[in-house]
Formats: sequence, structure tokens, C-alpha cells
Amino acid sequence: MHRAAVQGRAIAEKSLPSQPIIRSYPMAKSRTQFICNQCGSVHPKWLGKCPDCGTWDALEEFKAPTPDARAQNTQTGNIAQGGEALTLAQIDESESVRTPTGIGEFDRILGGGIVPGSAVLVGGEPGIGKSTLLLQVAHAVAAPKTESKKGEAKTASQRVLYVTSEESARQTKLRASRLGVQSDDLLVLAETNVERIINQIHKVQPAVVIVDSIQMIYKPALPAAPGSVTQLRDCCMDLVYLAKSSGIAVVLVGHITKAGTLAGPKIIEHIVDTVVYFEGDRFHAHRIVRCVKNRFGSTHEVGLFEMTGGGLREVTDPGSLFVEHYGSHGPPSGSVITAAMQGSRVLLVEVQALTASSVIGAAKRKVSGVSSDRVAMIIAVLEKRAEMRLAADDVFVNVAGGVKVAEPATDLAVAMAIASAHQNRPLAPGTFAVGELGLGGEVRTVPQLELRLREAARLGLGHAIVPHMGSHLPRLGGMALHEVRRLSQALNDM
Ligand code: TYD
Ligand code: MG
Repeated sequence: MHRAAVQGRAIAEKSLPSQPIIRSYPMAKSRTQFICNQCGSVHPKWLGKCPDCGTWDALEEFKAPTPDARAQNTQTGNIAQGGEALTLAQIDESESVRTPTGIGEFDRILGGGIVPGSAVLVGGEPGIGKSTLLLQVAHAVAAPKTESKKGEAKTASQRVLYVTSEESARQTKLRASRLGVQSDDLLVLAETNVERIINQIHKVQPAVVIVDSIQMIYKPALPAAPGSVTQLRDCCMDLVYLAKSSGIAVVLVGHITKAGTLAGPKIIEHIVDTVVYFEGDRFHAHRIVRCVKNRFGSTHEVGLFEMTGGGLREVTDPGSLFVEHYGSHGPPSGSVITAAMQGSRVLLVEVQALTASSVIGAAKRKVSGVSSDRVAMIIAVLEKRAEMRLAADDVFVNVAGGVKVAEPATDLAVAMAIASAHQNRPLAPGTFAVGELGLGGEVRTVPQLELRLREAARLGLGHAIVPHMGSHLPRLGGMALHEVRRLSQALNDM
């Protein structure tokens, strides 16, 4: 068996009794619950609208095991019961057994590589590049690594099983040829029956199994249709249990559908160890993959890729990729650059705003890339503390390039973008702004300010509008620092 699988198995065996992989809940001993196929919340009775996320007609019937049946499952090592403690206990050791996939940006998201015996969920819209990325990951793990720094010791390749439940083996082969993927240690299985998939996994003994996608596989013993909540949870649990008990890493692909016809990956987020999502949509050339849950590393790390004719290409130095270069004319009004932390990396992004007079009494606020609640607050602060009349205006705010920034550190840039659009006053070229806004109109300091300044200076931005820090800020050659205490100050000097 392969090295990682052996190590993972050793960990797993310490805490789990060896048991047959396929579990079955005793059907008679179950009680009925209803699960929302959008947000995964559980309710005792059926409702037309999910009280948690507000989606209509999203609750599906689910037979939950009774306490009796659960006790029985605990004895057989049910991951939902014993798995949490096991996983936490593993964390220290996992550092040493982590296997880098060879795709740096993917390893970055996972915190250094795949942990044997872990379950990873990769979610995203259809067509965004999940299959492409995972086929490339499969190749990187399976292809013999002939190069090492000293040019001697060769790392052994690891066997990978790629289970395709959506496409035929032939379609996968065609895609693989396009991507230049080729290795004897990469096996493809076109199968949708989870029991047969698990049998094959036992036979093949791979280090990593990729199931693309989890929503298309089914368990024949269950009466529910493939893609339903019951099927999704049960198939996923079986595969996660297999990972825990055998030390094989399992990567599950899940689609996010806006229409909600399939149960979403949200439902299985709590079952797996690591959750990564493709962000934005497929209309942008750059793909941002963000880690939202990681039991083996830090979260909110992002991986950056570019979709090319030959698959996804890593973007290791994003530089000013997400910032438009306006040349000598400078930016138009409503455009402000900010430096956002994305995991441990600083990303320069461009906040764009547009205001336009609206139909009386129906002012629209449309926001993408930043939190709409935050924008509502910023608009209120602009009205009250900077005397800007926006009530009769439609306000549109967007972050260029499909990036999502969730930090309050972008508040100042959003406020300045809206003000600049409203007053039709563009900023000087090379200006950027960071700072959190308080309800009183004060500009607060932000974490990692120095790191943000250094990155902006590296990329040639010459003028920074930042919270007041006194003498604590580094003097970076060529960059003029403008420290502000209040929003009105930033707007006056804009
Ligand atoms: P895919 O990985 O099939 O998406 P998902 O599995 O998330 O549904 O990606 C599909 C898109 O990527 C498709 O529109 C074509 C494009 N693509 C490229 O541009 N270059 C490539 O080399 C490949 C394989 C796909
Ligand atoms: Mg796919």
C-alpha cells in the first residue's frame, strides 16, 4: 500500500475498531425530520418556507436514526459520533503526514497538502472548473515526481482513483488528454452506486479518491432519489467513514445550484474535514478557490487560478491582477483601490461604485463582492456624517474581477468609491485606501496594515489613505501616507 495511506491507516486504527465499511441504518428505527436542501437546517415538521434561510419549498423528508440506532452506530465507529474527537486528536500528527499534491495553490488552500484519511469537499457552480482542477490534482499526485531539489531521491507516485459519476470514462479520458494528464497510477471509474464505488476503493487501495460529483451517486438500499438530501448525506457519510477507517483521503465534488433542484453541498459541510468553494462565476477568467472550513489548517486561505486552454494555471503572484490599469488618464470616478487580506496574502482589489438618480421612492442598492449589509451601513454613515444625500439615488457597488472581500477593512474604500461616484470626482492615479468605518464616521485601524502597505508599495501605488497611527507606520520609500481620523477628512482630501 502507498505510504500516505499506510500512515493514515495507522492513525485511524489507533482510534477506530476495524469494521465493515458499509453501514446501514436500521430503517424501522428511524424518525422523520425535514432538512432544508439549501442551508441544511433541520426541522421537526414540514414547512413551505425554510425559517432559517427563507427559501420556499426546500424542506425534504429525512429519516434520522433514533438514539437507539445511533448508539449502535457508535459501537461500529460511526464517524458522526466518534469522528470529531478523532479528527481533533489527529491534528498534531497530521502535519508530518500531509502529502503535498504538487499544485501549490491547491496545497495553500488545504494548508500544505492532503491529509491522509481526511475528507475534502470541493464546491462550486457547474462549469466553473471543479472537474478540471481535480483531474489536474489527480495527475499531480499520481504522476511520478522525477525532479527533486538535489536531483536524486525520487518521491514515489501515489495511486489515485477518480470516480466519475457525471461523465463517462471516455469523456474523462478526453478531458485528461486535453490537460496532458497521463499516469499509470491514475485510475478512472465511471460508477454511481456508492456500494460498488467502495468495493472498488478496497480493491484498488488508492491514496486519494476523488468522487465527481457526490450529488450523482446513490445508495440502492435507500428509497430516495439520487440528489436528494437523504441520499446525499448517507452516501457522503459512507465515504467519510471509509476515509476515517482506511486512511484514504476522499475528495468530494459538490455542485451549487441556484435553482435548488439538487441538495446543496451545505448539507454535508459539517460531515467533512475541509470545505473549499470556487468563488464568483465562470464568466471571469480567474478562478478564486477559498477554504471556508479546515480542521487541519487555517481557513479563508485562497488559491488563485486562471482558466486557460490547457486547464487551470496557478497564479502565484497576483500583483495588481484584480486592478484595472487606466493608464495616464487615471481611474474614472467611483473607482478606489484597496488592499484586502485573503488568508495570509494581500490582494489589491478595485472597488467600483456608481450612483444614478432613481425612480422616486424606489432607490436600489445592488452589491456584489462585499457584504450588502455593510454597504447599507456605509451609505447611512455617508448620509449622516458626511452630509451626502443618497436617499434618491440608486447605488451600485462591485468588486472588479469577481473577488469577494468580507473584511471591514474595505469600508473606507467603499465609502470613498460611493462618494467619488456621487460627486463625479475621480481619485488621483495610484491612490489606495484602507480602514474600517465606525457608525460615528471615525476611521478605525485594521489588522496587518503594514503588510498591506508594503504590498501596495511593491506594486507601485504612491498614495495611501490609512487610519491615523501616529508614528507607528513604516515610511516606505516613494509612498505618501495620508493618515485620517474621520471619514469627512478622507473625503475632503480625496
Ligand atoms: P469543468 O471542470 O468541467 O467544470 P465543473 O466540473 O465545475 O462543472 O470546467 C468546465 C469549463 O472549463 C468549460 O466551460 C470549459 C472550460 N475549460 C477550459 O477553458 N480549458 C480546459 O482546459 C478545460 C478542461 C475546460
Ligand atoms: Mg464537472
